[in-house]
Amino acid sequence: MRSKITIIGAGNVGATCAQRLAERDYADIILIDIIEGMPQGKALDLLESGPITSNSSLITGSNSYEESANSDIVIITSGVARKPGMSRDDLIATNSKIIKDVVENVVKFSPDCVIIVVANPLDIMAQLTLKISNFPRSRVLGMSGILDTGRFKTFIAQELNVSVEDISAFVLGGHGDAMIPLPRLASVGGIPLTEMLPEESIKNIVERTVNGGAEIVSLLKTGSAFYAPSAAVAQMVDAVVLDKKKILPCAAYLDGEYDIKGVFLGVPVKLGKDGIEQIIEVNLTTEESAALKQSAEAVRTLFNDINL
Ligand code: NAI
Ligand code: 2OP
Repeated sequence: MRSKITIIGAGNVGATCAQRLAERDYADIILIDIIEGMPQGKALDLLESGPITSNSSLITGSNSYEESANSDIVIITSGVARKPGMSRDDLIATNSKIIKDVVENVVKFSPDCVIIVVANPLDIMAQLTLKISNFPRSRVLGMSGILDTGRFKTFIAQELNVSVEDISAFVLGGHGDAMIPLPRLASVGGIPLTEMLPEESIKNIVERTVNGGAEIVSLLKTGSAFYAPSAAVAQMVDAVVLDKKKILPCAAYLDGEYDIKGVFLGVPVKLGKDGIEQIIEVNLTTEESAALKQSAEAVRTLFNDINL
């Protein structure tokens, strides 16, 4: 049976996700936005691509939630994106209100779905989604680590002039200035990165990764990244729809793992049909562990400050 996937927010990330998922041909897609006509227009345009790209996904656009009923997966991209000079945290007040309204509708119409949160600030919005939905933590996850890791791998591959496919690496922590790329655990064709590049180059790559989102914002001037983010979401959806049990860095609610309790943070998880099937605990150095705890406290403080 085909899966049913709802994407809320038919802007840059939402519409590009819809295109990527439609072309995978394993699900029907509902695209929801508050702007009248816009999700319907984008859905029809995507539907009319099917005969050319050879996929039969049904894509429906809507301004309400009825058509989304009983979705298997709901992707939340609704929210404002940052402008040059803004941090992701500057979006909290606006996006919290949007998330509250959206999640109440998601729970009402799709009580058994897996929710993938994309809206920023990611860890805070994912935590708010978990609280409002009252879903088990396995069914609420945030997209961040795959994107940040994609950037980390891109910059390593560029520096070494090798294929991105040869790079193995991941980024832990919050999706913000406190993210933690882990060069110690990165490798190139199985060879430790620390043996392939001098410390100074690695430091520059880590810095560019942490600022990866801002780099795109400053180039685009209106809006933020969406090609790599939508590719990251699609990889998470693949893992759930196809029950791939893939190990991917995602934002998950920690309940004692890494000695951290009660906050969302990017960690490696096993993703399958039920959402997060396991949180993988990596042995960290004292410094890495301290950085992760600092990242957790930043998320906790911001979350506690939300006033809805
Ligand atoms: P966008 O502005 O292109 O699209 C957002 C869409 O949400 C708009 O079409 C807007 O009309 C819609 N919307 C607003 N309120 C809504 C509501 N109550 N119900 C339904 N739709 C609503 O923005 P873009 O580039 O698609 O980014 C969306 C969000 O995702 C932003 O918060 C951005 O910061 C975040 N983001 C997060 C990433 C991550 O790594 N977690 C990566 C890229 C973007
Ligand atoms: C990014 O990192 C906008 O958070 C998003 O590109």
